[in-house]
Order: sequence, then C-alpha cells, then structure tokens
Amino acid sequence: MTYLDYHATTPMDPDVFEEMKPYFMEHFGNASSAHKYGWRAQIAVEQARQQVADLLGVLPVEIVFTSGATESLNSIFYSLKRALFGSVRVHMTPIEHPALVRSAHEHSGEDWKFCDLETDSTGTILLDDLETVLKGDGHSILACHLAHSELGTLQPLFEISKRIKKTEALWVADASQWVGKVPLDVKRLGIDYLGFSGHKIYGPKGVGVTYVSKDRMKVLHSMIVGGSQQDGARSGTLNVPGIVGIGKACEIARYRMSKDEEYCLEIMNQIIHAVSKNFPRIQFLGNMDHRLPNHLCLWVPEVSSSWILSQMKNFGISTGSACSLGYSPTWKYLEKFGYPKGIENQVFRLGWGRMTTRAEIDYFLSEFFEVLRSHPFHQELEQ
Ligand SMILES: Cc1ncc(COP(=O)(O)O)c(C=O)c1O
Repeated sequence: MTYLDYHATTPMDPDVFEEMKPYFMEHFGNASSAHKYGWRAQIAVEQARQQVADLLGVLPVEIVFTSGATESLNSIFYSLKRALFGSVRVHMTPIEHPALVRSAHEHSGEDWKFCDLETDSTGTILLDDLETVLKGDGHSILACHLAHSELGTLQPLFEISKRIKKTEALWVADASQWVGKVPLDVKRLGIDYLGFSGHKIYGPKGVGVTYVSKDRMKVLHSMIVGGSQQDGARSGTLNVPGIVGIGKACEIARYRMSKDEEYCLEIMNQIIHAVSKNFPRIQFLGNMDHRLPNHLCLWVPEVSSSWILSQMKNFGISTGSACSLGYSPTWKYLEKFGYPKGIENQVFRLGWGRMTTRAEIDYFLSEFFEVLRSHPFHQELEQ
C-alpha cells in the first residue's frame, strides 16, 4: 500500500512516538496532582506548550490544549458568542471545512449574520474589497482556512493581515493544513484565534491546539467545564502523552520545515512534469504559485474519480476532505468559475510528505497512467 492522503492525516513521526512512550506507563501522573508524579507530567506539558508557542511565534500562555482542531474551533466560537454583544458579521469563504462552518453557526447569536467572502477560481480570497467589507457596522469576524485542504491553495496571509489591521475585525484562523508545512508568524500577522490538530503534522490523533491572543486581551470561555484545568480555559484531565506528542511534532516541524518543503516540492514537480507530459488534458486545480508544497489536486476531464480510485486499490488517495465522505462543496463551487457540471466527480487529491519515497511516487505514476490508458476516453486525455 502507498499512502498519498497526507491532508486527511499523517503517519506519526517515530521520534514523536518515542517521546510520548514514557508518558503512558512510566510518567503516568495527572498533570494537576501536587506530588512528584503530577509535577513530572506538568513539566512535560509546559515543555510542549513552549514547543508549540515557538513554532507559532507566540507566548506559551496563549496556548490551550484541546482534543483537535474541531474542538478548538468550537470553543473559539463558543467564546466569541459570550464575548461579543450586539450585531456580528462573520465573513467566511464558501469553501470552508465543516469544522469551521458548523462551529460558527452552532455557536452564533441572534444578531449574527453570515457573509460569503469572495475568492477567485483557485480559492484565493479576493483582496480588493476586503477592508471595506470587514469595516461595516457592529463586530466583524474574518473566519477562514489558511491553507485549503482540497485545493492546496495558501491564502495571501500578509496581504490579508495588512487589510485586517486597518479594521477592528477579529481574525479566526483554521490553521489545520498550514501549520508545520509553511512558516507561520502568528503575532506578526495579528491573528486573534487559531486552531489545529496534532495528527496533520506527524503527531498523535486526539490532541490539538487553540491559540488565543493576549495582545488584544482575548479570553477563552471554557466550553468544557469541570476542574478548571489550563487556567479554566479547558477543563478535564490533560492528555499528557498526546500533548507531549504534539509538542514534539511542533519542535520537529520547526527545524525540518525547510528540508521537508524542499523534498515535497521536488515530488510535486516530478508529478506535474510526468502527468503533463503523458496526459496534457489533465489539469491541476488550486493556486499553482502559492500552494502547499505536498499537495496536488487533479482534474481528469470525463473520467470518474471514484472509478480511478476503485482501480487503484493499492493507494490511499481521496476525492476530498475525509470529513465530507467523498463529496465536497468545494468542487461544486468551481462551477461558478466556468468549470463544467460534473467536475465534482472528476477530481482527486494527492498528498505526500516526509515519509513518502521517490519509489512510491514512481509506482503511483506508472499505475495511474496504466489505469488511465485502460479508460475509453484515454486518447482524448493524451492529446
Ligand atoms: C481545514 C481543516 N479544518 C479542520 C479540520 C478538522 O480537524 P480534526 O478532525 O482533526 O479536528 C480538518 C481536518 O480534516 C481540516 O482539513
């Protein structure tokens, strides 16, 4: 089997696993206990908090550990509902992940209004009217992904930041696909709230991070109440092995990011070159100049992506976000830009990473080409 679905989840880095191991059996203490077992766990948690903060360029006190990005985004909107009085406008692109969309809707107040943020055909947010749109009456929230999980497009963060700083708007960032792959200077950008998961950055599942900026005196009202752990921001006994794991994953990402990026870009160029040479009619979707280094989104006109996947059972590849069970509103959205009806059934996503070998890519390409050549439409694709 060859795994090429790194945007659904990544394999765990063996160094992350090694770091976590002692916290299951040996150092099993509760991080809130006032004795040596507890202190040992607490030290590990605080070290992880520092590792996460260092990767994001923020302070450790601004980091809250959660069960994953979904919980982080829910708790951010839960807090915003309690913090903001009067009318609120939430600006989101129509191609956000359900974890963001549903969190915002679920925790919205009566005076909340949802507005679509315009993008171009690559999913890149249009900047021209952004400042004006965010200004308006009442509170304004820009809630958006930083990197798109299906199109691979990276949002122009510095350009967005420049505009948002001229307004009073709050910035809620779904950083699930960006963190660990592309440098992120959260303070410089002025992001107010952010969430991501450990399992997308070679860390464990079931652990995530919420960042809450202290600069603008933001607070996190605990959505999960109980023992008031993490200074009341998120109750419940801390998942010490998971937290140690996400901390280590962030530390590794920090020193490996440029090496990973270089390697991933080589693979991207290899795939683009081979596909374009053999099947010139296949198109790559998303922003090709500003994209995740380990992501490609392929549109194979007239060929069903589920048929391709059914012919390639030895590969872990997907037609879109794992949470949308094969159907994603992103593909439907593309019709607005002149892509033909039915495109949603003709696209699939490839994601690779640190552990992917060149031999696996060669194998994928040869199998993919063989499968396409067995399709009745193959001659058209080859021209
Ligand atoms: C862009 C984006 N946001 C949020 C999530 C939710 O992450 P999790 O399921 O780890 O909570 C995902 C996961 O696929 C994602 O890709």
